[in-house]
Amino acid sequence: MAKTKKPAAKKVAAKKPAVKKAAVKKPAAKKPAAAKKTAAKKPAAAKKPTAAKKPAAAKKPAAAKKAGAKKPTAAKKPPLRKPPLKKPPVNKPAAKKPAAKKPVAPKKVAAPKKPAPNKRAPKKTAPKKKSPATASAASDDDFYDRIFENNLRWIEEKTRTDATFFERLSREQNPTVLFVGCADSRVPANEIMGLEPGEVFVHRNVANLVPNTDLNVHSVLQYGVEHLDVKHVIVCGHYGCGGVAAAMQSADLGQLNGWLREIRDVYRLHVDELEAIKDETARYRRLVELNVQEQCVNIIKTSFVQQAYSKKGYPIVHGWVYSLKDGRLKDLKISFRDILEKIREIYRLD
Ligand code: CO
Repeated sequence: MAKTKKPAAKKVAAKKPAVKKAAVKKPAAKKPAAAKKTAAKKPAAAKKPTAAKKPAAAKKPAAAKKAGAKKPTAAKKPPLRKPPLKKPPVNKPAAKKPAAKKPVAPKKVAAPKKPAPNKRAPKKTAPKKKSPATASAASDDDFYDRIFENNLRWIEEKTRTDATFFERLSREQNPTVLFVGCADSRVPANEIMGLEPGEVFVHRNVANLVPNTDLNVHSVLQYGVEHLDVKHVIVCGHYGCGGVAAAMQSADLGQLNGWLREIRDVYRLHVDELEAIKDETARYRRLVELNVQEQCVNIIKTSFVQQAYSKKGYPIVHGWVYSLKDGRLKDLKISFRDILEKIREIYRLD
């Protein structure tokens, strides 16, 4: 027990051997566009930590909302991509493209049926998704239909620059990176890393957890490490995480209790450090980081990661935190080798 008490958080041990460098090419931290949509949520997140200190149940309702995954989607309705009808910007010379015709073709087949439903009509007359904040049923339909329009446009864009794009990807995937992130709609894995389809294997859940008994995340990990042969496994949390905020409260969150308990366990492991932080926002941010760190440890504990590493020298496990405010990715510089060394005695599986 004594060992687990002291998490190697601070150890930013100098990176050792070359393995890490070898494959580092991928993680291009591009400028994410995701950050802009977030403004509305911030204040809510900031409030949460307050409850941690106070036994008062006053904030309960807020907590429930926050944790409920559905809330954000319903309320805010983040615009998907660009407005579809206005801009087929790069598509102008579409006449040439063979690809452009493909997707359109199926539409024609179904054409006789489409005029019937009225859904389509309002879509054309109301291209203004930004207009009122009132989310009517009609605009919901709009939003939903737009997804398929976006899809067609995306197909066009992809095939215009690379005619074999889909054919190539349909044959195989060869990602270098496995990304475990939060399900939060503002943290789209590929986008924040500037990576294309085929370049990152992704698992997301509430608060980017890797519980030791979760078959889902462990299946993804094992497949990624053993079969896809990824070089890097990344746990990416984010400041302003609703899951972490909810875990800092005393509210009973029903079904989420068991899941969020993982984060409370992280809090318990690091209670001294966390309680020493007086500023609640700072403490909240630190818990986000420590949660990432502990999920990294959970990954390092697994037999297949340990075995792969001793055979091949990878994967390397990294902990990152994403900032909703400016889109930056921060590498927590968690020392994979130090942690592995430390926990090996306890978790070794020969
Ligand atoms: Co989150």
